[in-house]
Amino acid sequence: VGSDVDRFEITQRPGQVDILGGVSTPIWGYEGIFPGPTLRSRRGRPVVVTHRNALPVPTVVHLHGGHTPAEHDGYPTDLLLPEPMADHSGHNGGRTAVGRREYVYPMNQPAATLWYHDHRMDFTGPAVWRGLAGFHLVTDEEEQALPLPRGARDLPLMIADRAFDHDGTLLYPSNTDDLLDNPGVRPPYQAGVLGDTILVNGLPWPTTTVDGARYRLRLLNGSNARRYRLRLDPPPPDDRAFVQIGSDGGLLPSPIRHDSVDLAPAERMDVIVDFGRWRPGQNVVLTNDFGTGNTAHVMRFEVGDKVEDGTRVPDRLSGDHSTLRHTDAVRTRRMVFQSRDTGGAHRWLVNGEPFQPDRVHADPKLGTTEIWQLVGDLHHPIHLHLSHFQVLSRGTSGPRRSDHGWKDTIDLLPGEPAEIIIPFQDYPGRYVFHCHNLEHEDMMMMGTMRVA
Ligand code: C2O
Ligand code: CU
Ligand code: CU
Repeated sequence: VGSDVDRFEITQRPGQVDILGGVSTPIWGYEGIFPGPTLRSRRGRPVVVTHRNALPVPTVVHLHGGHTPAEHDGYPTDLLLPEPMADHSGHNGGRTAVGRREYVYPMNQPAATLWYHDHRMDFTGPAVWRGLAGFHLVTDEEEQALPLPRGARDLPLMIADRAFDHDGTLLYPSNTDDLLDNPGVRPPYQAGVLGDTILVNGLPWPTTTVDGARYRLRLLNGSNARRYRLRLDPPPPDDRAFVQIGSDGGLLPSPIRHDSVDLAPAERMDVIVDFGRWRPGQNVVLTNDFGTGNTAHVMRFEVGDKVEDGTRVPDRLSGDHSTLRHTDAVRTRRMVFQSRDTGGAHRWLVNGEPFQPDRVHADPKLGTTEIWQLVGDLHHPIHLHLSHFQVLSRGTSGPRRSDHGWKDTIDLLPGEPAEIIIPFQDYPGRYVFHCHNLEHEDMMMMGTMRVA
């Protein structure tokens, strides 16, 4: 029995990293690296992460997928201001901290692939683009008891596109500057900011050598705005390429097989790939059907000799088989995510209103379950803080194959309404929900729910 809390310290600071080979790219990183350090936790063991802000801008830290009390969840205006001087740090009252602050996570949640990233109002897109994102993995006894690949065969993969200038600096074709100088200008980036270079864990189109054995790939779409349809090329000679074992919120009740998987920004999918099904020496490319040219491929696996690895994917994975039904909900809300031209400005709205910190879009009762009908005009990956949810329907049909399990982000398709069912549990307070296309979010496609 050790201490009953895990502590981490992270300094947010500028860094120089070699992404393109031979030129250095200035970034903002947790610990000055991109992705930030991977944090690991155990279910039920609280975590205290002390963040120091040595960047030139205010920041906000959010643990995405964390079931977290409101004060530590990273509300977009709960700022951590830059360190003025080494010895002038501490709280200055209210919810703004100067220099450093602690984020406390109870980690009362099952094994899952979470990630942490910046969440400052108006500025999440540029901050994440510059590098403020990292993995936070949670494990538990149930997961440890499963015969799944682990250690070097458990690979968290943060997939994120970026664009670079000729000198290696990151290029963020910002519309924010234009808007500040000239509020009448219509943002040119309706689809959000897209890059032409696909990075996996901070490296462009990497190649990794794998044994001819089972691997667990924890796929995270850490892109600002790009959606992917991932596939393995060539496909395995028998059966489907991916055996999905987990979703945003943790392990599935039982595995689901896919030829390809769609991943909208912020979505995670844990899949098992058995590289023993390809010939030794073969190259297997992770491709992206939604891309063209450079963005049509993601990374490459060089398959080594076949080894007996003793792992398998059991038919039963997680003990949480509960399926929520319409009758579990006490009320239904409708949330419309829509962009609109109003008096020369292009606005990104939830139920006709842009985000404002004091405007409450929903007031769920703590301890109750609600159904939300989500409607979008474009692709909007809709993300809720605090609660994981289940997808009840899409359009006139049920959830798609990739919607199963506990989700915190749903890939809402244009003109196809979806229904999700959400239990609001444990923590009262003010939380956001928003489009996770980070440019849409920064343009205020976000709402507040006050849980009480
Ligand atoms: Cu991944 Cu509200 O964020
Ligand atoms: Cu989140
Ligand atoms: Cu959107």
